[in-house]
Amino acid sequence: MRSEKKGVGVIGIGYVGLVTGTCLAELGHHVICMDIDAEKIAQLGEGEVPIYEPGLPELLEKNQERMIFTTSLEDVFEDCEIVYIAVDTPPTFTGDADLSRVFQVMSALPGLSTDDHIMVMKSTVPVGTGNKISAELARLETGNIDYISNPEFLREGSALGDFMEPDRIVIGSRNQEAGDKVAALYEKLEAPVVRTNIPTAEMIKYASNAFLATKISFINEIANVCEEVGADVTIVADGMGLDKRIGPHFLNAGIGFGGSCFPKDVTALKQIAGNTGYHFQLLNAVIEVNELQKRRVVNKLRKHLGPLTDKTIALLGLAFKPNTSDLREASSIVLASRLMGDGAYVKAYDPVAIPYAAKAVRGVLLCDDLLSAVEGCDAVVLVTEWDEFAELPLEKMKKIMNNPLIIDGRNFLDPQQVRAAGFTYEGIGR
Ligand code: UGA
Repeated sequence: MRSEKKGVGVIGIGYVGLVTGTCLAELGHHVICMDIDAEKIAQLGEGEVPIYEPGLPELLEKNQERMIFTTSLEDVFEDCEIVYIAVDTPPTFTGDADLSRVFQVMSALPGLSTDDHIMVMKSTVPVGTGNKISAELARLETGNIDYISNPEFLREGSALGDFMEPDRIVIGSRNQEAGDKVAALYEKLEAPVVRTNIPTAEMIKYASNAFLATKISFINEIANVCEEVGADVTIVADGMGLDKRIGPHFLNAGIGFGGSCFPKDVTALKQIAGNTGYHFQLLNAVIEVNELQKRRVVNKLRKHLGPLTDKTIALLGLAFKPNTSDLREASSIVLASRLMGDGAYVKAYDPVAIPYAAKAVRGVLLCDDLLSAVEGCDAVVLVTEWDEFAELPLEKMKKIMNNPLIIDGRNFLDPQQVRAAGFTYEGIGR
């Protein structure tokens, strides 16, 4: 019977799975976290957190009595009525989401004692996947397993806050009672709960990410026009953001969005539409603007330095945004390879991501501190707006740089202050 199983299972202990499991434990639930990576599970069992997320090690330690880490799917289905799926759904070469890890879990179900379970999808899966999986569950004769779509809206770097104080909780279900049980897990949270069918829940996730990405590409294009007409995009964004219908968020112009979500989800939504025969024109532009935005920095450098052959450029920040070690689809990767393609030497410093960067930015000289990175450089590009870069040691930098040029790819610095220190400053659209 459902009531005999006390725990909540989480399958796939990557970024989303670990945050979800830990926060569910914080809400008072007993959580069994399962992953096929035995090394990771052993590490977590020892209290070591394999990713960088502010506050996560502390929250994990606080809740360790309510958390079990295992490599056994059997344990999860034995002890848990509600089982979250949080496995990776990376993009395939066509831009569709790769669901092989989801189906790997499905294929193991017939060998397990599955009956009266609720499977909750946290991974971002294409619209229609839930219905496909429900059909597959029926075909596999797994006993009664209800399927729920419960997309996540966590941002890396602020994931714990996003989980504990969400803007909304979305629950897509066919079976009202199963949906009620999942909603009950979150009853301590104060947030509107959107109850709907499965495809609508799946679409809310894609539409939200695609809209946010559109906002960024939009403001980036406005920034590019601002540069031509002498306007300042940061003030334009402030002025726009005061309009309640627009809102102030996600209007920071810069060198483009990256990360494991926006690039993947925007492309996947374009594919989902395309697979139905609908051509989602707007998203093509969002993607293209984002690609070009990363390359515009190279033109800015050429404008000041001429040909970049044998010039040395320092990148400040490699992670796709601050407070994460994640380099997936980071603008730094494209920028570094474009610069090296132009014959430049590239050095880089990041407060957190350096140990993870060697493979992602091959050929870049990775430095342990900011001053070693900028020494001897012809220009510095601020790529990630880490707090540490808010107060740059400008005087020291000027003394050891070959040429005092700063391209501020995130409009993070105070132009007047940087210019007063004797630098040439260029931001994005200001
Ligand atoms: C994003 C969404 O914000 C989350 O709601 C969602 O849950 C998550 O994707 C996901 O689908 O899992 P995340 O990728 O962690 O979260 O990061 P964001 O803070 O959204 O930033 C994404 C990128 O946009 C970064 O490269 C950031 O630098 C860039 N960005 C963001 C801008 O260039 N300008 C802005 O104004 C905001």
